[in-house]
Amino acid sequence: MNNSKEKNVLDSVIYNYTTTSNRMEEENRLLKSTINKLKEELDRFREPPLMVCEIMDVFDKNNVIIRMPNGNQFSVNVSESCGKIKAGDMVLSDQKNLNIIKKIPITKKFNIEKFVIVEHPDISWQDIGGLDRQITEIQEVVELPLKKPELFKKVGIQPPKGILLYGPPGTGKTLLAKAVAASTNSTFIEIVGSELVQKFIGEGAKLVKEIFELAKKRAPSIIFIDEIDSIAATRMEVGTSGEREVSRTFMQLLAEIDGFKPLGNVKVIGATNRKDILDSAVMRPGRLDRVIHIPVPDKDSRLSIFKIHSKAMCLDKGIDEKTIIRMMEGFSGAEIKAVCTEAGYFAIRNDRTKILAKDFFKAIEKVKQEEKLEGKDYLHMFG
Ligand SMILES: Nc1ncnc2c1ncn2[C@@H]1O[C@H](COP(=O)(O)OP(=O)(O)O)[C@@H](O)[C@H]1O
Ligand SMILES: [Mg+2]
Repeated sequence: MNNSKEKNVLDSVIYNYTTTSNRMEEENRLLKSTINKLKEELDRFREPPLMVCEIMDVFDKNNVIIRMPNGNQFSVNVSESCGKIKAGDMVLSDQKNLNIIKKIPITKKFNIEKFVIVEHPDISWQDIGGLDRQITEIQEVVELPLKKPELFKKVGIQPPKGILLYGPPGTGKTLLAKAVAASTNSTFIEIVGSELVQKFIGEGAKLVKEIFELAKKRAPSIIFIDEIDSIAATRMEVGTSGEREVSRTFMQLLAEIDGFKPLGNVKVIGATNRKDILDSAVMRPGRLDRVIHIPVPDKDSRLSIFKIHSKAMCLDKGIDEKTIIRMMEGFSGAEIKAVCTEAGYFAIRNDRTKILAKDFFKAIEKVKQEEKLEGKDYLHMFG
């Protein structure tokens, strides 16, 4: 009896030892693998850095010409693990023997299409309300030369290389630029002046250069420079490095505009709501010398803009458009559009799909309030 009890105790002791021992072994294994990993990492850290080089020419696997960052060129070998490479690729090379270890997915030229908006817009002239005179002028000076350059050659006159649209925000400047790009089947390249100086510090001039290159490659093209005043404002002095950078970007822009032919198939459209601060150099003959005012819409224009944006809406028959148009005195095209959208929301909130006059009244009030909050006090500048 006693014996068997002792045996049980011993068994359980043995059992405990075995599990402990198993656990320790397991732990040991884990620690060893951690040590190995750390050793590997240490080895990796001790490795000399690889050099980023550009491939100039590829003859065969043992004869590839690379260009080092300092400009020196060498003929080197390519490691087996490195995939196919071609001239223009960027690669990592061993510092000692310069052999190519690895290809890296960057190209030397930064891809400007990532930084600017490039598209083929589908805005038609019919999508623009009012602005009839401005549309005719743009058709004459931008559309016609792109469509019929030979006509200008015959007549012996040179169309402008670009135009400047100025007027308050939301009046259709971007819309016009997109419409002319669409009507001429042009690539539409949009850059925003303020972004050019804020986001691409030190790169503005280079970017401008590449944008014009891209425009030529994808011609016919319209280069639309929104907020052009951010890069082309008059400054009394060019003091800080930021100002010097902006002025370099501006100089590059002028050089690019001067550099292409009036009858080529690239046109520049600048837009600003601060013509008062614009450097007149940009409007000199041969540059953006057609200056077109885009005003806040008058009564008739407001009506046609309203019709465009309410076209797809189901309006109650009792709606008096004249009253609504009168209530929107001073509204820009963008605000008229906002009124239509808001009116739609008021209907939705009341479980209706039909829009009533009161939806528009409320919407107009709302847009007016927002306008007040934003402090819309720049309108006086445009007379
Ligand atoms: N004349 C207009 N006709 C129709 N819609 C307009 C008009 N002006 C502005 N809009 C509406 O307002 C939006 C913003 O206008 P936009 O062309 O960007 O103004 P801007 O470039 O002058 O600031 C447009 O997408 C359009 O929906
Ligand atoms: Mg705009």
